[in-house]
Amino acid sequence: MKLSVIGQGYVGLTISTFAARHHQVVGFDLNSTIVSQLNKGISHIEGVASSDIKQAIFGGNYKATTNGADIAGSEIVVIAVPTPLDEKRKPDLTFIDSACKVIAENLTGPALIINESTSFPGTIRNYIKPAIEKYSKVKIEHSYAISPERVDPGRENFNQKNTPRLYAGLTPEATVRTRDFYSTFCDNLVEVSSPEVAEAAKLFENTFRQVNIALVNELAQISHALGIDVRETLDAAGTKPYGFMKFSPSAGVGGHCIPVDPSYLADVAEKAGVEATFIKRANEVNLAMPKYIASRVEKDNGGSLKGKKVLVVGVAYKPNVADTRESPAELLIDALENLGPVVSWSDPVVGSWKGSDSSPLSGADIAVVVTKHDVVAAEDILKSAPYVFDTTGKVKGAVQL
Ligand SMILES: NC(=O)c1ccc[n+]([C@@H]2O[C@H](COP(=O)([O-])OP(=O)(O)OC[C@H]3O[C@@H](n4cnc5c(N)ncnc54)[C@H](O)[C@@H]3O)[C@@H](O)[C@H]2O)c1
Repeated sequence: MKLSVIGQGYVGLTISTFAARHHQVVGFDLNSTIVSQLNKGISHIEGVASSDIKQAIFGGNYKATTNGADIAGSEIVVIAVPTPLDEKRKPDLTFIDSACKVIAENLTGPALIINESTSFPGTIRNYIKPAIEKYSKVKIEHSYAISPERVDPGRENFNQKNTPRLYAGLTPEATVRTRDFYSTFCDNLVEVSSPEVAEAAKLFENTFRQVNIALVNELAQISHALGIDVRETLDAAGTKPYGFMKFSPSAGVGGHCIPVDPSYLADVAEKAGVEATFIKRANEVNLAMPKYIASRVEKDNGGSLKGKKVLVVGVAYKPNVADTRESPAELLIDALENLGPVVSWSDPVVGSWKGSDSSPLSGADIAVVVTKHDVVAAEDILKSAPYVFDTTGKVKGAVQL
């Protein structure tokens, strides 16, 4: 079967390499640098091995392209493009729109179009289908379905094969074809009664995490004010064998999903006349954590950071990945800089970020740990400055959040 995947990032490349074991895959992306690297068998995504891409290319099952005409003749097209927030933190479907345009302008016959990008309930029915119909010069009856991606970059025990996958078509026929397609490489398929249920479930999964992370971050602040160890409190609560799920305090939320997806749910809720109060409050609490941390560090250091050298340790949004998207480290650096010190950062996994290179883990007056990678030893962090503030709970002996 010929399959085209629009977008060759974390989601699109992952699905492409899995699907290429069974199908002919065209990986379409607007970024010509990514495309030429991929055609040389070089992966730009952690978690997708270059050897898997090479194997797919040499087996004749994979080709990356910037040419929309290459998707002609596809039986299935998967959309895996970014769904960010705009400057007002509202859903930005610009990339989805341009993916619809490429699909409409290049498909010559009916295909099954599956959206894997995260978006609000109603996206496939009320946005993608009408957009493709609007951009098509000839009338073609495509089928439409949704199967939201749940990939967790860096996680090794769950992948495309064993992660349960939700799916639903706009028609029963689209649902059956979607199941047939994913069952070629995924063992755990979960059909739901409508695309809207699948879209809403995906948003709620990440909203659940965002709200619980905010709640535990609020508990960290309450515990500090009361002189109670928050992590010991959470470990104690975690001994309850039912009805409790442990989340850990942190500098905030990062990555492509948790800081973004809940706002898609809040926006669609607002349009339906319901105020998403939890989501809004959780956003506020998480976004305020860097300021709270900076002020704790300032208080502990005689009430002023002016003239001090502060090192932010770990700028990736989570351990053992180089991904800095929406990392709370960025807000923390801003919050610290507002208090007057010279701020640098150290992260050997990220290497270079926002036009500067990772600094050595030494010579600072103050170190603040945002992310602790396995390759960075806790003892080295402790030696990097006389005062170390740890937001991760992994640097024993440091001042804890
Ligand atoms: N990264 C994750 O962990 C994750 C997990 C689950 C769901 N998602 C969702 O999947 C979607 C894709 O996310 P991602 O992390 O793969 O993004 P990404 O930024 O890693 O990759 C997106 C790719 O799409 C390309 N692109 C943009 N517009 C395009 C267009 N019109 N045509 C072709 N290519 C285009 C970009 O050049 C980029 O290479 C988003 O909706 C995201 O929320 C991501």
